[in-house]
Amino acid sequence: MVPPAPTSEVTTALHGPVLVVSIHNPPVNALSAAVRRGLADAMAQADATPEVQGVLIVSEGRTFIAGADIREFGKPPVPPALPDVCQRIESCTKPVVACLQGAALGGGLEVALASHHRLAFAAAKLGLPEVELGLMPGAGGTQRAPRLMGAKAAAELMLSGKPISAQAGVQAGLIDRLEEDTRLSPLAAGLAYTQALLAQGAPVRRVRDRAVAEPAAALVALQALADDTAKKSRGLFSPLKIIEAVRAAVELPFDEGMALERRLFLACIDSPQRAGLIHAFFAEREVAKVPEARGAAPRPVASLAVIGGGTMGAGIAAAALDAGLPVVMVERDDEAIARGVANVAKVYDGLVAKGRLTEGQKAATLARFTPTTRYADVVTVDLVIEAVFEDLEVKKAVFRQLDAVCKPGAVLATNTSYLDIDAIAAATRRPQDVIGLHFFSPANIMKLLEIVVPAQVSPDVVATAFELAKRMKKVPVRAGVCDGFIGNRILAVYKQAADYLMEDGASPYEIDAAVRSFGYPMGPFQVTDLAGGDIGWATRKRRAATRDPWARYVEVADRICERGWFGQKTGRGFYRYPPGARSGQPDPEVLAIVDAERARKGVRPRTFTAEEILRRYLAAMVNEGARVLADGIALRPLDIDVTFLHGYGFPRHRGGPMKYADTVGLPQILADIRRFAEDDPLFWQPAPLLEQLVAEGRNFDSLNQPAD
Ligand code: 3HC
Ligand code: NAI
Repeated sequence: MVPPAPTSEVTTALHGPVLVVSIHNPPVNALSAAVRRGLADAMAQADATPEVQGVLIVSEGRTFIAGADIREFGKPPVPPALPDVCQRIESCTKPVVACLQGAALGGGLEVALASHHRLAFAAAKLGLPEVELGLMPGAGGTQRAPRLMGAKAAAELMLSGKPISAQAGVQAGLIDRLEEDTRLSPLAAGLAYTQALLAQGAPVRRVRDRAVAEPAAALVALQALADDTAKKSRGLFSPLKIIEAVRAAVELPFDEGMALERRLFLACIDSPQRAGLIHAFFAEREVAKVPEARGAAPRPVASLAVIGGGTMGAGIAAAALDAGLPVVMVERDDEAIARGVANVAKVYDGLVAKGRLTEGQKAATLARFTPTTRYADVVTVDLVIEAVFEDLEVKKAVFRQLDAVCKPGAVLATNTSYLDIDAIAAATRRPQDVIGLHFFSPANIMKLLEIVVPAQVSPDVVATAFELAKRMKKVPVRAGVCDGFIGNRILAVYKQAADYLMEDGASPYEIDAAVRSFGYPMGPFQVTDLAGGDIGWATRKRRAATRDPWARYVEVADRICERGWFGQKTGRGFYRYPPGARSGQPDPEVLAIVDAERARKGVRPRTFTAEEILRRYLAAMVNEGARVLADGIALRPLDIDVTFLHGYGFPRHRGGPMKYADTVGLPQILADIRRFAEDDPLFWQPAPLLEQLVAEGRNFDSLNQPAD
């Protein structure tokens, strides 16, 4: 007799001589405490039940096991620990078979590696993605994978975090057999395989008993990987720990390797990088949970149009084509549309040149692309994205035309970076259909999409925008209407802090270096040079008339632009870019311009340490973030975090600016702001929300409640 199932997440049933251990923990069968306990109990049951000759581990649903339950990290551990469960599986006295479908990731793959035989459906994906969460495999993955696939390949799998196909798993030696028949259920395929193995008298086969192949060569390869990783991993904690653990698989007996893996894993768990990366993982999934997207059904979108074929129009067109949509592009005249077509073609020519696309695929994609100069050609499309010049009157004129020609119910979106979308909507007789879709450049590559929600938009239009983002594989963030929405509004403030630092005594090069040391790929002045100084200059000139005459305004960038130095494209900006140089070089003439501006304003330069630079830069970001929250422009702090992770290069392992503020502690951020305010009380006014949270002893995360 088989005793009743140990937990509702793990059930057992005898199929002839095979004990089927079935995991049911939707949505992704994560290894929660109940699943771990269920698996351990099932192994005890298999050992204790004489009728059982073999064990099959299968999962219900679309995926085998997505790994450890990420929500448990950072909380007090609940036994049994996963390494012990894997150990229990491996020590089972009857042959244990794992049947993998969907994703077998992290702890999920480790459960499979602890089993004695592995069958995988051809579409299964296998991976050890812990590094993406600031972790390393912690349930024997660092010890068992190298024994099966070799130390170098195993370390590469763990360092990349990217999954491999089941076919690649077979070639690497991780998987014993591929199941090609997609009609079979995991239970049917797994049972057939287990029965066949039993019929052949297949043994209990423990990975721990194997040795890593070619140990001397493996150590050399690991050293090369360690050197490379130290250079590339920009201060990340877990990658070097992964290599250390894999080295132990080569050099130490299995149990000692496991003990080292445990110590290193726990050090990763304690690292703030783990907290930042796991915050990013969940925040990226929470952002799509907005009231409108929950409550309303999206409108169907089978075709799309872009108005404008410049930098953004072409990128958006490519993003939509890549999502499989037919795309119409409207430009002003024949010459402009020819440029628009060339801009789109350039994207695909680049992909062909890199070998990422064949000529045939390019032709098939471009067959869905219709360039035109006639607005009449958008009458049937379901969704239009306007990307013309950043000028309210030009945009209003475009929307009046769209209002005149588009079919009823078509969604009318604008890609404006700053302008008032309520005013744009008011130019039409259908403001309920008008929304902001703020893509980032290059739009076919950058993941962030700010979905800007004007006052009168109907909820199903918001839901449609979120659905489109999903189809385009974008990370959508809901934003309210204001000058710059979430991202550019906050950017404007911390960029100002950087300008003040420069005028007060730090060089642009010191500021960039400090910002890079925090984990950014580039500093703010390098970004200006990359984007082109002329873009910001045009905005500043446009705003000159409305600028507060009492507010401090740093003119260094204007002086640089007046010389025609627009950054990389002109060979000079804040940096010099000599022909053939790979990166910009500091420019004494720029430093002289900075000095002259200081002298003109009577500023006596001070020195700033890298830490002081960062404190000001980040405090400005967090303070404006708090205002954006209080104004309802961002729904939750996590929306700001995701905006900065995917649109502005904020280092992912810090989780985003608001998460970073929580990590440092809001009292410290507020104290910094009050200290900076002693010199400049106008700029450094603490945001009331920040003061309130500090007074109440709360952090930003306390505001990250699901939006209902
Ligand atoms: N633990 C807890 N929840 C998880 C989870 C996990 N390992 N993986 C996914 N989820 C949750 C998501 O948060 C989401 O919840 P929500 O619906 O409430 O927002 C839900 O499951 C569905 O996830 P996705 O939206 O991501 O679904 P997809 O179908 O797009 O992707 C997936 C599925 C490929 C499995 C993807 O979720 C994924 O990559 N998950 C993380 C895998 C991972 O990192 N595993 C390693 C964990 S660490 C580990 O195992 C340590 C061990 O070595 C000791
Ligand atoms: P761009 O100058 O490269 O392209 C604008 C295009 O619009 C031009 O090709 C022009 O011919 C066309 N156009 C102008 N009036 C038109 C009309 N009435 N009908 C059809 N086409 C018309 O400008 P870019 O950089 O592509 O910007 C477009 C919009 O996207 C702006 O609102 C900008 O603020 C926004 N944006 C720009 C980003 C960037 O990094 N460049 C990032 C995010 C948003």
